[in-house]
Amino acid sequence: MNHESRIYIAGHKGMVGSAIWRELESKGYTHLVGLTSTQLDLKNQQAVNAFFEDVRPQVVIDAAARVGGILANSEFPYPFLMENLQIQNNLIDAAHRFDVHKFIFLGSSCIYPKLAPQPLQEACLLTGSLEPTNEWYAIAKIAGVKACEAIRKQYHKDFVSFMPTNLYGAHDNFDLETSHVLPAMIRKFHDAKLANHSPVTLWGSGTPMREFLHVEDLARATVFALEHTLPESLYNVGTGVDITIKALAEIVQHVVGHSGSIIWDTSKPDGTPRKLMDVSKLQQQGWQAQIPLEAGIKQTYAWFLAHQADYKTLRL
Ligand SMILES: NC(=O)c1ccc[n+]([C@@H]2O[C@H](COP(=O)([O-])OP(=O)(O)OC[C@H]3O[C@@H](n4cnc5c(N)ncnc54)[C@H](OP(=O)(O)O)[C@@H]3O)[C@@H](O)[C@H]2O)c1
Repeated sequence: MNHESRIYIAGHKGMVGSAIWRELESKGYTHLVGLTSTQLDLKNQQAVNAFFEDVRPQVVIDAAARVGGILANSEFPYPFLMENLQIQNNLIDAAHRFDVHKFIFLGSSCIYPKLAPQPLQEACLLTGSLEPTNEWYAIAKIAGVKACEAIRKQYHKDFVSFMPTNLYGAHDNFDLETSHVLPAMIRKFHDAKLANHSPVTLWGSGTPMREFLHVEDLARATVFALEHTLPESLYNVGTGVDITIKALAEIVQHVVGHSGSIIWDTSKPDGTPRKLMDVSKLQQQGWQAQIPLEAGIKQTYAWFLAHQADYKTLRL
């Protein structure tokens, strides 16, 4: 691995892939390769093999996936299972057959059992039942983790899986129908500020605890994994610190500059009381998140303000 290595970032226009691309560029990597799904449909095995034969990437980062919230997952179980299996299987198998030196597979904390002890350790994988609302997606991601582990075990290749916690940052999704909690709060407080600081209604009691990682920290962790040989196949990536949804709302409200009231709609579900990753395995290798939550939210709000005019036509 050097600055001229051919590095293919699958999903390079997505929130995660684009952050990894920017991080690699800023560190002087010059031979980055990225194709949109229109240019290369990763579900098409023949096309993926032809691309690998032609380009011969030396390093592959898999940040391509069909992603979505609870609603999309429960309404479209088959594509969430099958498209993700197809995308990752085609990439992992081509990377194996075309002798890619290093492969990083990105998944999510939903691979862990619903009732696993907190903080979630890598060792709790496959020790219990999954959260039913996103089990389709989780099953595909677990298969990806196991495929990388199998290649590592049998062929001693450097294939690693990273499971990030909740992410936020530039290129996040601010659509109130489909967004995650943090960008949804930014959008709600912003809209309410413009509506003469009208009250903001948020779901649940505000007591559940969640962890948030800035996508640039994940990008740094990914580049760290490219520049180091990690001894194991599966790592959690997060801050190791959680916060109540209520405290998060107060930070977002302060950053956005909304001075109205917050209404907690306790008729809406809270979800699981706590979801925190144990990130000690990656920390022991020398990586740690750097961006404090409030600073990360300020940066994300600035990005939202700079791009909000596009949100009717572009995904923010
Ligand atoms: N966002 C989070 O909070 C979060 C948290 C934990 C883990 N992750 C993980 O991070 C990874 C990336 O997520 P993200 O948030 O960056 O998603 P995203 O913004 O929706 O980006 C997904 C990318 O995948 C590409 N893609 C999807 N289907 C494809 C296909 N058939 N062929 C080629 N490319 C395809 C898309 O390309 P086009 O745009 O060209 O279609 C897009 O660039 C996922 O594995 C996800 O599980 C995300």
